[in-house]
Amino acid sequence: MPHNQNTDYPNQGHSTLYLGAAYYPEHWPEKRWPEDVRLMSEAGFNVARMAEFAWSTLEPAEGEFDFDWLDRAISQLASAGIVSVLGTPTAAPPAWLVQQYPEMLAVDESGRRVQFGNRCHYCVNAPELHDATRRIVGAMAEHFTNPHVIGWQLDNEYNRVCYCDRCRRLFQQYLTTKFGSLDALNQRWATRYWSQTYSAWEQIPIPIGPHNPGLMLEFKHFVTESYRQFQRLQLDILRPHLPDGVWVTHNFMNWFDGFDHYALAEDLDLASWDWYMGTGHNDYLASGAAHDLVRGFKRRNFWLMETQPGTVNWSSVNNSLNKGEARAMAWHAVAHGADAVLYWQWRSAPNGQEQYHGTVVDQSGQPRPFYEEVQQLGREFADASPLLTDSTSTARVAIINSYDSRWSIQWQPHHHDFDYVAHLIRYYRPLAARNIEVDILPPDAPLKGYRLVIAPALLVLDESTVERLEEFVRRRGHLVLTARCGMKDEYNALLPTRQPGPLAEMAGVEVEEYYALQDEIPVVGNWFSGSSQLWAEQLKVLNNVVAPIARYGPSNGWLDDQVGITVNSYHGGFVYYVGMVLDETAQQAFIDRILKTAGIRPVMDVPQGVEVRKRVNTEGKEILIVINHERAVQTVQLPWPAHEHLTGLAVGDKIKLGPYGVVLLSQSD
Ligand code: GAL
Repeated sequence: MPHNQNTDYPNQGHSTLYLGAAYYPEHWPEKRWPEDVRLMSEAGFNVARMAEFAWSTLEPAEGEFDFDWLDRAISQLASAGIVSVLGTPTAAPPAWLVQQYPEMLAVDESGRRVQFGNRCHYCVNAPELHDATRRIVGAMAEHFTNPHVIGWQLDNEYNRVCYCDRCRRLFQQYLTTKFGSLDALNQRWATRYWSQTYSAWEQIPIPIGPHNPGLMLEFKHFVTESYRQFQRLQLDILRPHLPDGVWVTHNFMNWFDGFDHYALAEDLDLASWDWYMGTGHNDYLASGAAHDLVRGFKRRNFWLMETQPGTVNWSSVNNSLNKGEARAMAWHAVAHGADAVLYWQWRSAPNGQEQYHGTVVDQSGQPRPFYEEVQQLGREFADASPLLTDSTSTARVAIINSYDSRWSIQWQPHHHDFDYVAHLIRYYRPLAARNIEVDILPPDAPLKGYRLVIAPALLVLDESTVERLEEFVRRRGHLVLTARCGMKDEYNALLPTRQPGPLAEMAGVEVEEYYALQDEIPVVGNWFSGSSQLWAEQLKVLNNVVAPIARYGPSNGWLDDQVGITVNSYHGGFVYYVGMVLDETAQQAFIDRILKTAGIRPVMDVPQGVEVRKRVNTEGKEILIVINHERAVQTVQLPWPAHEHLTGLAVGDKIKLGPYGVVLLSQSD
């Protein structure tokens, strides 16, 4: 089995599937809590996340702790069978702390200290923040060893970048350790260009706006390292106190680009994320990629730590999800490896910045209409939980996601619409449309067990990635390299070779020239025709084993009739080089063909808009989660008679799915 291990993070508690919400009991008089607990229990909740913004309530003044209220909340919830996840409250340093240590506030790009009153206003490297963190996290760790606390979330959605003088000094120290000498740094960054040569470490700035690409990349690495250190500080305090099996996570923001998520996830037990859509509705062919991305952070199942109960408050139009859509989304998350779905938040707070955000219970304390849908999910999760124990998805296709490549392209897109994530999703979508399971993995992930690996715009290459890709192809793997692959080294410097650099031999091509496109240009392929958008690379075929797959039609003269896609058969494997950015229809036809050649087939064929995912347990038992993401009734033809687990009924050769309908199937014995 490929690398998604089973759900082997400790302490799953009694359930495989958790349903709950972010709960802030500190917003309400205690006499209200029993009613909240009753409503949660009647919704089928079995988890609540608390305290991640409660610093001022937990420590109202330096060293004065008030934890009793949270003890009482945990035990009231526990009496209804609801376990707790506690947040360390460091994303919300309180007013008294900031007043005492104003230098812990972050400095923004323009040199201004950020104002108190929002969140994440700290400088992640501030010693005052670290001291205060040690105190509050240490006290909480010692105190909350309650068996009903099954896990901890550190901070909340790390995101702030600080530009203060201390961060600049630390950045310079980071560079000293990384490069050893200024000569090495000057050479890697080619600093003779525009007289950027550094003769003292203190001269090196924090990049603001466009800067030397080498410097910009190292700053991202430094920010990653800063958060990693801050996270480790919390982990080192927490872990010695945690009873066996209690896990630690952080709630990431899927495609957020502020730091390398793989590095941060490495130190955690469990990855989790917050899924908000803002305006519009769920585009499952893209949101599946976000789930798969997070599953790839630790290569195992994850928690959906927050998601929107109907609406958000921060988008251009805070439209509601359609009736049934949130339930379909919850199952979609589970189908992609989520073991928990928590709504943000339980009840609208009387004041504060998020008064109009969707909730499960409204400002009056009464359930919103949405509560009914949550109750249905509660029943379904309880029924399905034993069935999905120790199960996860197993993919034969991997897509490589490289933060370095992404940042590099983002800073020099060459075409304002060339977006790394959008480009990756151009490859994900046609796979998702055919219900092919995909793992999204970092460039250093082992590739054993996969049949097809796609490396979208893997611009930054290091030797070990090249070796792994080569090994993969030699094991008869199918590798797809796309436009903008193999352009730079790990210092963000241009390689002294043509693209795809060290991958050229495998691909059997080199890129003679690349063109940002103002208009789409025609493309004629062996298996499709269509257009290339945004980007076009002119390929030079290096040997006669390489087969051209598509050529450009008439366009700028340079590209006319030139080769844009090739396939090379290399030591038993196949390497595609795709210099074009195909339109959606051509891309689907192209990917379909690759799937066919690689012998990868979906579990079953279903109508458009219906998703099928498989979770397989350690004994090899397969559960299919089938979701109709459309608002129209759809009929799915089954390849075998099945048992439907949500209704408990046997089904024959077909099954009807209502709008946003969900079924859980296993093959009848
Ligand atoms: C998240 C955050 C939550 C809440 C939510 C609103 O980013 O973690 O605390 O603010 O957004 O959509």
